[in-house]
Amino acid sequence: MKDDQERALLEAARAVRANAHAPYSGFRVGAALRTGDGNVFAGCNVENVTYGLTVCAERNAVASAVAAGDTEFVALVVVTDARPPAAPCGACRQTLVEFVPDLPILLVNLDGESRRVRLTDLLPQPFTPRDLPPKAAPKDE
Ligand code: THU
Repeated sequence: MKDDQERALLEAARAVRANAHAPYSGFRVGAALRTGDGNVFAGCNVENVTYGLTVCAERNAVASAVAAGDTEFVALVVVTDARPPAAPCGACRQTLVEFVPDLPILLVNLDGESRRVRLTDLLPQPFTPRDLPPKAAPKDE
């Protein structure tokens, strides 16, 4: 990914973070995915008074991409106000692995600190379709 493309992805993650619905934790998260076609899909965390129904920013970005039929992810940027910059939770890691096994991820905070990680480092031994018995294997789409 080129520098200007990464800047645009970071800007999308920063911008969507402002729309986070996080009245319970006060922890706003913005996530932006870039695809091979050059599309950008953004998501923020959406909390719920039940707490358990909360959905993370990363999974909302994935849902937006799936809805558009474009899931060839090439990069993810996550923006938080954490020091050091926070990484996606376990549920989001597994959700991302469903589409791309080794996604490059840029974690950034509001101080401008950043950290580059890869999905395989965050989730080294994921559950994959190969773990399913043949009867339950996914059908070609
Ligand atoms: N959160 C995310 O949006 N992404 C993560 O990967 C970790 C946590 C959100 C969920 C909740 O709204 C808030 O951060 C505190 O956990």
